[in-house]
Amino acid sequence: MKDIYILGIESSCDETSCSIVKNGTEEIATVISSQIDIHEQFGGVVPEIASREHVKHITFVLEACLQKANMTMEEIDAIALTQGPGLIGSLLIGLEAAKTLAYIYQKPLIPIHHIAGHIYANSFVEPLQFPLLALVVSGGHTELIKMTDHLTFERLGATLDDAVGECYDKVARVMGLAYPGGPKVDQLASQGSVTYSLPLPLQDHSYNFSFSGLKSAVINLCHHEQQLGHEIRKEDLAASFQHVAVESIIIKTKQALETEHIPRLIIAGGVAANKGLRQAAQAMCEQLGVKLSIPPFLFCTDNAAMIASAGYYAYQLGRRASYDLNSYSSLPLQ
Ligand code: KG4
Ligand code: ZN
Repeated sequence: MKDIYILGIESSCDETSCSIVKNGTEEIATVISSQIDIHEQFGGVVPEIASREHVKHITFVLEACLQKANMTMEEIDAIALTQGPGLIGSLLIGLEAAKTLAYIYQKPLIPIHHIAGHIYANSFVEPLQFPLLALVVSGGHTELIKMTDHLTFERLGATLDDAVGECYDKVARVMGLAYPGGPKVDQLASQGSVTYSLPLPLQDHSYNFSFSGLKSAVINLCHHEQQLGHEIRKEDLAASFQHVAVESIIIKTKQALETEHIPRLIIAGGVAANKGLRQAAQAMCEQLGVKLSIPPFLFCTDNAAMIASAGYYAYQLGRRASYDLNSYSSLPLQ
């Protein structure tokens, strides 16, 4: 069978990325240009600045990717792009780049949902097998999704308020850590002990999550300690917060795996890089006899390889878009 090469383009937030993936599972070359240094001074992503940075970098990122792969556009079979959800201005840059390339080189255009992309980052570990449960944990999403086939998604549950990554970033901010705070809280947590008492959120029989209560509890605790003139033990607070955040995710994930009788768990999204979550998921899956897959660190956070991988399966299903394709800041996963 002929090898299929997909060019992926991702620009939904503050990373401009292009990647070439062979047959959905073999990453040939990936280039990621991150804007973190620019947004750090504002404590979060500034959408208007993000769009402008994408405009500045997209051409160079594409050229660098082709060069790294030692390939030309003629050798590409199709172009997959993130259609949404994300920052609309940022998404539109990737969309226009993809459309332009598709038109010039007469290649099929394949729209991909950002979360589908995160899920398919696991294809670089081994091809997805079904049925599986995907635990999606990112800056914008916290969801449990059941898949019985390629690109078939059934949402079992989701956060009722904040996403877990968002909660990590806000907790980091109140602790005086720079954006994005998730990895820094994770790092501190490994040096501390669980000494602060924080509430375990949403203990019910649904597959939903809630993080705003936990976030408020950390903020209140910090303010209270400050008022008393006490110094916050950052390592211990990070460890205490991480313990509860991870525990609440594991409880709901375990509930879904057991009740739905699903033999495989994959973790997707930026928070999949979290060491505490990785360890806890590993232990839970060993106990349940469930097969666990977590993407390599590089492919946990936003990247175009995951978009190209999902794009390959969409390509095989015959999904094609026309030139009037649009981007959407919110987009249901289906
Ligand atoms: O998937 P992603 O790159 O972007 C979205 O689609 O949202 O996820 C970014 C999120 C940020 O909130 C970041 O703080 C969080 O993932 N994150 C982490 C870790 N690495 C990234 N959160 C906790 N622990 C980490 N090690
Ligand atoms: Zn993402």
